[in-house]
Formats: sequence, structure tokens, C-alpha cells
Amino acid sequence: MPLHDDLKIPVSEEELSRRRFLGGLVGGALTVAGVGTGVVTLEYLEPNVLFEVETRFKLGRPDDFAVGQVTFLPARKLYLVRSAEGFVAMSAVCTHLGCMTQWESAAGAIFCPCHGSRFSREGKVTGGPAPRPLPRLALALEGGQLVVDTRQVVADDFVLKV
Ligand code: FES
Repeated sequence: MPLHDDLKIPVSEEELSRRRFLGGLVGGALTVAGVGTGVVTLEYLEPNVLFEVETRFKLGRPDDFAVGQVTFLPARKLYLVRSAEGFVAMSAVCTHLGCMTQWESAAGAIFCPCHGSRFSREGKVTGGPAPRPLPRLALALEGGQLVVDTRQVVADDFVLKV
């Protein structure tokens, strides 16, 4: 019969089995805690990447848009309007409280569903509580492509002549 290490007391096989089981349980718990701590530490050391929204992008070639066409790009939150004078890119975000406006082709106008503001196809306020026209955005022709920069607001009369 094995002896207890410290007290030299005989220990039964049943007692040894229980001690082995508890030792394994504690060892397993410490292993799980150590692995968990290691994973969390590695995740902490890896920098979090913030993907910024692209603010300058191509809209297409001028010939892709007919004169009089209003193109609503909801994912980009903007309108591209082609008139006889040229192209205008403008924000689709209502100047009242920031709702997303919608183009109503039947009415030939832009409508805000939140509080009923209305805008002309050029973005001028024609009704409702909106205090300002829809802001026009910088638009340029680069390499045969229309390129908009949503960070740059331009004058309300800006038109890109093509
Ligand atoms: S947010 Fe558009 S009318 Fe109020």
C-alpha cells in the first residue's frame, strides 16, 4: 500500500484515484484558463482595423447617363443628375434632420419621407421644413470617368460641363 508522502500514512487506492482525478480536473481548468488568457492577449495585441467609407469614387462614363436622367445611388447616399448643362452630384441626405431622400420619377422631384420636404431635381427646396438645398458634391471628369468626392461640398450652382 502506498504511503502518504508527508505523513508516511498509508493511502488507499481509492484515495489515490480520487486525488488523481482532482489533480487532472485542476490541471485541465488551469490549461483552459491559460489558453483563454493567451488568446485574449493575442487579440488585444492585434490592432483593430477601422474600414473607412470610400469618399472618392467613379460613377461611370458620361455617355452612361441620358440627358434628364436622375440616378439615385442609395448605397453612396447621392444623386447624379444629368441636365442639358452638364452633371451635378448631390447628397441624398435631407437637410432637415438627415433622413434619406427618395427620387420620385413620376413627380420629377426628390421627396423626404420623414417630414415631407420636397426638392427639385436640382436639389432646391420646393416644400417642407428643409432649411437648405441638397448639398452639391465635387464632381470631375478623370480618364473619361465621372469621379465624385463626397467630402467636398461645392457651390449650389456648380455644374460639371462635359
Ligand atoms: S428629415 Fe427630411 S423633412 Fe425632416
